Amino acid sequence: MGVVADTDPRLAQKQAAAVRALDWVESGMVVGLGTGSTAVWAIRGLGERLAAGRLRDIVAIPTSEASATEARAVGIPLVTFDGHPVIDLTIDGADEVDPALNLIKGYGGALLREKVVAQATRREVIVVDDTKPTERLGTRCHVPVEVLRFACPTERAFLESLGATAVVRPDGVGPFVTDEGNWIIDAAFGPIADAPALAAALESRAGIVEHGLFLGLTADVLVATDTGVEHHASPR
Ligand code: A5P
Repeated sequence: MGVVADTDPRLAQKQAAAVRALDWVESGMVVGLGTGSTAVWAIRGLGERLAAGRLRDIVAIPTSEASATEARAVGIPLVTFDGHPVIDLTIDGADEVDPALNLIKGYGGALLREKVVAQATRREVIVVDDTKPTERLGTRCHVPVEVLRFACPTERAFLESLGATAVVRPDGVGPFVTDEGNWIIDAAFGPIADAPALAAALESRAGIVEHGLFLGLTADVLVATDTGVEHHASPR
């Protein structure tokens, strides 16, 4: 693509992974647009390929208002799930990736729409730099948990009862507000021994709208390193 990331090697990695994922986009697809400093390179690259005529008849569903704004800026036609209930391919980032391609997502606050889009997607492609892979989820990252404002204190107490250090995400003078109008509690569990069990516990709570554990949703992970882009495919 024509836009060159600056000389920060991490930015160059993010761009390299995102651009590689675009090679799997074909004309006529419905494409999911991820959120974050890595996925944005896929949005920009997709816009460039459309403008150059290398891809045609693409429509896209963004995972956040921020990504929608990026997409409009580069001329990507946006649609909703109305008439497009299935997405062919989504390119998104992640905060942590384990060897089974399970993820922690949501540091950018878009985890709810990101999970809706991932669950509606035939092929979820995750693009990351080489700081994101870990042996066990939770080793480096907390788990973002999106909660109803009404329920925030009780869900925070629930997360602490599970052993987490739980902090309401700030944004200037007040809590961070998601695109869906909810708040986020960042729950630090440390290395998570049983991610499916934790996910089930979180999903049992009415005040928890969604959480950042993305289990079994990823088809491919592209990890950019100093020496190139590694492809990890799900065996599923
Ligand atoms: C957005 O809510 C997140 O899930 C992002 O996809 C994730 O935080 C990765 O972002 P970066 O690519 O900026 O690290």
